[in-house]
Amino acid sequence: MATQVPETEAQLKPMTDAAKRKRILSGIQPSGDLTLGNYLGAIRNWVIQQDECESFHPIVNLHAMSGSFDPEALRRRTLELAAGLLACGIDPEKAVLFVQSQIPEHTELTWILCTQTMYGELGRMIQFKEKRGTASDAKTSAALFFYPVLQGADILIYDADLVPVGEDQRQHIELTRDIGNRFNTTFGETFKLPEADIKTDGARIMGLDDPAKKMSKSAASPANYIALTDEPDVIRKKINRAVTDSGSEIVARQDKPALTNLLTIFSLMTDTPVADLEARYEGAGYGQFKRDLGDAVADHLAPIQARLKELTSERAQLESILHRGTERAREVTVPKMERVREVTGLSL
Ligand code: AMP
Ligand code: TRP
Repeated sequence: MATQVPETEAQLKPMTDAAKRKRILSGIQPSGDLTLGNYLGAIRNWVIQQDECESFHPIVNLHAMSGSFDPEALRRRTLELAAGLLACGIDPEKAVLFVQSQIPEHTELTWILCTQTMYGELGRMIQFKEKRGTASDAKTSAALFFYPVLQGADILIYDADLVPVGEDQRQHIELTRDIGNRFNTTFGETFKLPEADIKTDGARIMGLDDPAKKMSKSAASPANYIALTDEPDVIRKKINRAVTDSGSEIVARQDKPALTNLLTIFSLMTDTPVADLEARYEGAGYGQFKRDLGDAVADHLAPIQARLKELTSERAQLESILHRGTERAREVTVPKMERVREVTGLSL
């Protein structure tokens, strides 16, 4: 019997780390203070996943231009967000942290993907409809409309396997898959189709002032959210004033959206199952519960805030981290764009 020989050299070699690891991509806009919603729905998961995945995290400053914006504020917030992500635990030795606009391939691909995107699809996007509100066509920017195509380009250009996001982004990831699939069918297999990676806990943290609306950094009132930079006494005050449900039971249930939200936050901040918290606070009043929750949030955020203070004064180091991130991102995007130009007839 002939001995089996490996057919190719590749079969002899152990898979490289990068080949085994899933690639994740997820971006965040520099459009306001980071909130507890961003942290629990997205950033906390990125920090966990950077150990086992090949992670790319763009600060999506081009997306932040889709509403009205102030150039100086945009510049400042981009750097502040980089510092915020590092303070939360994004490690530039593991994850690729970069600024979207530094990678021209994102915008070039956006235009090409527009050819595979239908007007009707963009009009159906919930985020578009919400952000547009009651504004007329004449007052609605085309950037707001095309926003999901740019997001699709951010994702597809890296051949990301997973996109770890909060629940609000599910529809954009589905659209990204549809666009990628259409492109592959038309021009041949080019892009990997990504999966949305939405966790069961924390994917939709609700506003403290209104548990029917998500916690958002662009909320009208700061009572809606806890900013990662809020001082401990501000955190305690906001939690103390958070709306509750009728009745006095401290349980997570469908008819108790406010308590469910507060218990979810408590659980994630202290790594304690919700059921344990329900048992601990059985018969207790909202006052005690809210005091303890305020302390738990303040304690969890304290080391993040301390790191943030240090990083804010180290602008040169921040710039160098982002510069290195640009280089690493372009190692992926430049060859990918060459391929896209090839299959679409742009390269001569
Ligand atoms: P954005 O602030 O809109 O750029 O969102 C950045 C990331 O945070 C995205 O993955 C969002 O899905 C996530 N996110 C934003 N707000 C919340 C929230 N209230 N609950 C959970 N995740 C959120
Ligand atoms: N639209 C996302 C948000 O509002 C931000 C974003 C832009 C994004 N590009 C992305 C998220 C790529 C994930 C992947 O949160």
